[in-house]
Amino acid sequence: MRGAAPDQELAAAAARLAEEVAEVLRWERSLGGVGVTAAELRAEGERGRPADVPPVDRRPVDEPTVEARDGAPRPAEVASAAGEPTSLEVPLAARIARLETLAAEAAKCTACPLHEGRTRSVFQRGDPAAELAFVGEGPGFHEDRLGLPFVGPSGELLDRMIAAMGYARDAVYVCNVVKCRPPNNRTPTVPERDACGPFLEAQLDVVRPRVIVALGRCAAEHLGCAEPEQRGWRGRWGQWRGTPVMPTYHPSYLLRTPQAKRAVWTDLQAVLARLGREPPGTPAAVARQ
Ligand code: URA
Repeated sequence: MRGAAPDQELAAAAARLAEEVAEVLRWERSLGGVGVTAAELRAEGERGRPADVPPVDRRPVDEPTVEARDGAPRPAEVASAAGEPTSLEVPLAARIARLETLAAEAAKCTACPLHEGRTRSVFQRGDPAAELAFVGEGPGFHEDRLGLPFVGPSGELLDRMIAAMGYARDAVYVCNVVKCRPPNNRTPTVPERDACGPFLEAQLDVVRPRVIVALGRCAAEHLGCAEPEQRGWRGRWGQWRGTPVMPTYHPSYLLRTPQAKRAVWTDLQAVLARLGREPPGTPAAVARQ
């Protein structure tokens, strides 16, 4: 593009921007739309919302799939090695394409017995370049029907937690350790978590959040922030492949134990501080408005 007339450069930049906007709008539609609440999504599901449009597999032929990634370079490393942008600079459209490819792979995955009971695999929702990601345990009844994470009652509580932190519902990234619903919502077994692990790794690799919140013991264990049977795991910073992880209670536990909400709010405030943010309503946040 160097040497091109300024108006040609401008036109090319505008075309790229339009393409990116169209891609983002398509992504948002495929996840139910921006700002659509869990209750609205469930109501749509009752009316027979059509299955999400299956994503197009646009993976370049030599890009490693999840199945082929044992010991294989990760997407970010592949990109850097090729002299292409590292993951932090990856354009939104490329992130969306990669995440949709992974979601399509998860929808076909038969690596563990959980696939036998799924209506739909449940991969993600939110911003593919979010600074903050929430990782839950696995889909429940409503999630399995709608194909989106956290759209049942615990999702409504999660949405309120996200709002209390000062984020729009879709400004964060939300996913689970396992992508298929365990029977009767039981906790996924370690082999099931491990079978699904490469998907979680790959999707967090694409999003590269600055902070991850592990919702509940299962996610905390899977992300290396709690040992089985360990007490007192909540609220202690851990790390997952260099990214800080805050393990806290799961929203479904909070629905049963509302008195634990105070502890979770302490954890979420620590997350905001780590991100250099303040909860809305604090004097500094109000002063900035
Ligand atoms: N619980 C989870 O851990 N994940 C969901 O998506 C819903 C409920």
